[in-house]
Amino acid sequence: MADRKIITVFGATGAQGGGLVRAIAADPAGGFAARAVTRDVDSDKARALAKLGAEVVAADVDDEASMRRALEGAYGAYFVTFFWAHFSAEKELAEARSMAHAAKAAGVHHVIWSSLEDVRRFVPLSDARMPTMHDKYKVPHFDAKGEADRFFTDAGLRTTFLYPSFYWENLIYFGAGPKKGPDGALYFTLPTGNAKMAGVAAEDIGRVAYGIFKAGDAYVGKTVGAAGEHLTGAEMAAKMTRALGREIRFNGPSPDEYRAYGFPGAVELGNMFQFYRDFEGPVNAVRDVARSRALDPQLLSFDQWLAENAAKIPLE
Ligand SMILES: NC(=O)c1ccc[n+]([C@@H]2O[C@H](COP(=O)([O-])OP(=O)(O)OC[C@H]3O[C@@H](n4cnc5c(N)ncnc54)[C@H](OP(=O)(O)O)[C@@H]3O)[C@@H](O)[C@H]2O)c1
Repeated sequence: MADRKIITVFGATGAQGGGLVRAIAADPAGGFAARAVTRDVDSDKARALAKLGAEVVAADVDDEASMRRALEGAYGAYFVTFFWAHFSAEKELAEARSMAHAAKAAGVHHVIWSSLEDVRRFVPLSDARMPTMHDKYKVPHFDAKGEADRFFTDAGLRTTFLYPSFYWENLIYFGAGPKKGPDGALYFTLPTGNAKMAGVAAEDIGRVAYGIFKAGDAYVGKTVGAAGEHLTGAEMAAKMTRALGREIRFNGPSPDEYRAYGFPGAVELGNMFQFYRDFEGPVNAVRDVARSRALDPQLLSFDQWLAENAAKIPLE
């Protein structure tokens, strides 16, 4: 352990951080050791990480002193914030600010910050193409992450900005899977028209992050996306049809129609999908699949992900 570089991983019991801890644990000769951060070291997920050989430590992003302790002696840190735990862009900004402060205080050599585009740089608040939310955001959970980049740069931290893509697991856990229409047929709804959307197996985000740490300083100061494939909604529906053996029809409402569905988060997600649709070029360019694969040779395509996971997609 002493001769290995410690990477402190926030969100270690979650999707992104968990993938990184497992990638480090799977490569014992790689020269890195994972320090997994959780609020509850006794949870089943935390114990599973300890079993893999990770050091598991308690810290809470709301308690900066605990974060500093978790970062003490670390070479690297993986930071991800927890928007869906509180739905607050302000809180997400505060979390990122604390992370940057704590990393600076601990003298961390290389930070990976799990960021996203500040959509307001593409669609200013004055632009009526998509509604403004809470008077200051277009896509709060994107904008806050992008705005928070400056906490890391201003602190002089050697940072790689990692942009995840749409997790294909959203089809299982986030209500994004096919739904039965009034005619009894199954419809996969995505308001992205003919645009190809970057998607990824959540586990690959952490594996890409591991590739970035392994590359030394090559990606310091750079923005790197993680994507397994860029696909239209119709292509995703066709692949699900083959994997599930059930016809999945593509339903492509406009972003306005999607926002009007009215479920909690419909406006935010409608804006997000509109961003994916209207800025397909730059969004997918940064989420380069070949580069993701170079950093993560195990990177899954959508077909490969479906082969492992299709049976878990609820068909309502
Ligand atoms: N779903 C998508 O398609 C998608 C795409 C791009 C980006 N994202 C972003 O991904 C982020 C979430 O990452 P994820 O999916 O890896 O999360 P996740 O699987 O939901 O896991 C959440 C993690 O957060 C930790 N956590 C929550 N509150 C904490 C706190 N106060 N202090 C310390 N740790 C805390 C939890 O650890 P313990 O409970 O063990 O403490 C858990 O490990 C969100 O901000 C979201 O916007 C999602």
